[in-house]
Amino acid sequence: MDKVVVSIGGSVLVPGDDDAAYIRRLADMLREVASEAQVAVVVGGGREARRYVDMGRALGGSVRELDELGIGITRVNARLLTVALGDIANTEIPVKADDCARMSESGRIAVMGGTEPGHTTDAVSAMIAERMGADRIVNASNVDAVYSADPRADPDAVRYERMTIAQLKDVVYQDHDAGKSSVFDPLGVSIAMRERIDILMVNGRDLEELRNAILGRPIKGTFVDSHA
Ligand code: UTP
Repeated sequence: MDKVVVSIGGSVLVPGDDDAAYIRRLADMLREVASEAQVAVVVGGGREARRYVDMGRALGGSVRELDELGIGITRVNARLLTVALGDIANTEIPVKADDCARMSESGRIAVMGGTEPGHTTDAVSAMIAERMGADRIVNASNVDAVYSADPRADPDAVRYERMTIAQLKDVVYQDHDAGKSSVFDPLGVSIAMRERIDILMVNGRDLEELRNAILGRPIKGTFVDSHA
């Protein structure tokens, strides 16, 4: 059985667009693929995390405190997904990647949010993948692929079907700040590079695409090759 870690951005899970209906369909799909793959899921904070980070910043919070606010929201979102998953998922949200990796071995779907300040849930997904010895990380965002520049702002932006992990490292930012977003977290890229874990970048609102990525089938998004 393939071992897969899915990183679902808050912008996919709770964008404020009929979220309960989407989460129900996502949970149905995850339950179905869990018979074919060992699955762990990490959930991001999205707009709500940014809202809290912005309020905390206005109140003079340190980067560490702002990160803690973001982490709190990721855990609430993780719990929301487990409500939809029911018995097949955990009810306590683990706070350590190790615990989540271990929980995924039981045939259940292990779900968590953030761990500690200094990175995002993308890095958490890479930490779990390392502990699980995962075959791949699936990064579900609200963008359909990796581009050389923001395609909405730059009509010449190149869309990547395939790239090496070294190329991905070149397009991500380097320094962490609370609420700062990138195509993938730089710590997550470093871990995936070291552990040679492929990353599939897909649009998570397209559940057929997300399912194909989890099962290792051809995708419309970007395949980031860690072996090239
Ligand atoms: P996210 O993982 O949602 O980050 O965590 P993001 O990149 O801003 O969100 P997406 O991928 O676009 O949806 C939200 C915030 O929570 C803190 C960080 O401040 C992060 O920006 N966080 C999260 C941590 O400090 N540690 C963690 O393990 C996870």
